[in-house]
Amino acid sequence: MVTARMKLAARIHRIGESATLRVSRKAGELRRQGIEVADLSAGEPDFDTPRAGVEAAIDALRSGFTRYTAAAGIPELREALAARYQAKGAPWEPASVVVTVGAKTALLELALSLFERGHEVILPSPFWVTFPEQVRFTGAEPIEVATSIDDGFKLHADPILEAITPRTRAVILNSPCNPTGGIMRADDLERIVEACAERDIVVISDETYERFIYDGEEHASAAPLAARFPETVVVVGSFSKTYAMTGWRIGYLLGPASIVGPVSRLQSHATSNPTSFAMMGALAALDGAEEDVVAMLKEYAERRELVARRLAEMPGVTCLPPAGAFYAFPQVADCYHDGRQGSVEMAEYLLDEARVAVVPGIAFGNDDHIRLSFACSREQLDLGLGRMAEALAR
Ligand SMILES: Cc1ncc(COP(=O)(O)O)c(C=O)c1O
Repeated sequence: MVTARMKLAARIHRIGESATLRVSRKAGELRRQGIEVADLSAGEPDFDTPRAGVEAAIDALRSGFTRYTAAAGIPELREALAARYQAKGAPWEPASVVVTVGAKTALLELALSLFERGHEVILPSPFWVTFPEQVRFTGAEPIEVATSIDDGFKLHADPILEAITPRTRAVILNSPCNPTGGIMRADDLERIVEACAERDIVVISDETYERFIYDGEEHASAAPLAARFPETVVVVGSFSKTYAMTGWRIGYLLGPASIVGPVSRLQSHATSNPTSFAMMGALAALDGAEEDVVAMLKEYAERRELVARRLAEMPGVTCLPPAGAFYAFPQVADCYHDGRQGSVEMAEYLLDEARVAVVPGIAFGNDDHIRLSFACSREQLDLGLGRMAEALAR
């Protein structure tokens, strides 16, 4: 008998369902049964998309801007993004930009264009769930380099340089990091890019959370280093988080022609182009939503304080305020005991017994932690943290 499994390609067995989406799905199922769940699992801003973006997309729809566009995106948005990165010191022209169906697709297209069996791809750990899955999907091997809670999960150059081998094809950096909020200093970033340039290794810098940075720290972008190392640096970005545009699915990458060309070719056969009117909305948000962004960032900063304080008060929970992004990644291993051993059982316990949705740390490469998002309303946070404190005390 021919089973479905036999018909599938080997590569699809190398990846599982996104852990974050799985938890959100389970929380959604409970909600549909009428059970109130405090959902702290999703990296999904609770804010409305800024008006400027919404109005521009509606105008685009009304005026019939509903056709295919150039595969790499509308010229106006490529120009605006190139200008934005030039202002940071990057050498990129509009032709250096590919607008994609979210940053996730940018990363997948990069992985498919650059990696194959026999390659190693270095990933600081804990990592965003999708990075190792995309790497494995191509047949390449993710190589984890641990960061530590002891210094707020800072990404340092030395352990990354030590992990380089002749098989290393790329290093994927994510500062600020999902899930830890850890950031990388400009000098560490520079050392990594310099070393990679010498060895023909690509540095993919996922800067999705570039605006989410606290305590007066500045974001160190890889973009200015592209001026000195143009063949080495690729930056990936997203409209999803900064502009509360998750469902719009607009992201982008900027890099050398040697990579942007093949990625655009792949995109022309994959998505054709990102949605036409969503790109018009993104363009308008880029220019016209700064006030909204500043207001949202202020609210995130306040929620961060609240979450860090409440978590630190819970016995057995260790949590430093995250340096960036909008997640807390508390260490909860001291709360593990029978029935809640490990982060998966702990997350299940919290969902089943306390009706709080969090993501198990194992999905991000560390079983001693769970991840909570503070991209949800204060009411949800308050409810979730209260229930969690009670459940952990039991
Ligand atoms: C580090 C990181 N990169 C990329 C993405 C994907 O963003 P997008 O919605 O643009 O696909 C996320 C979303 O959670 C993320 O956390």
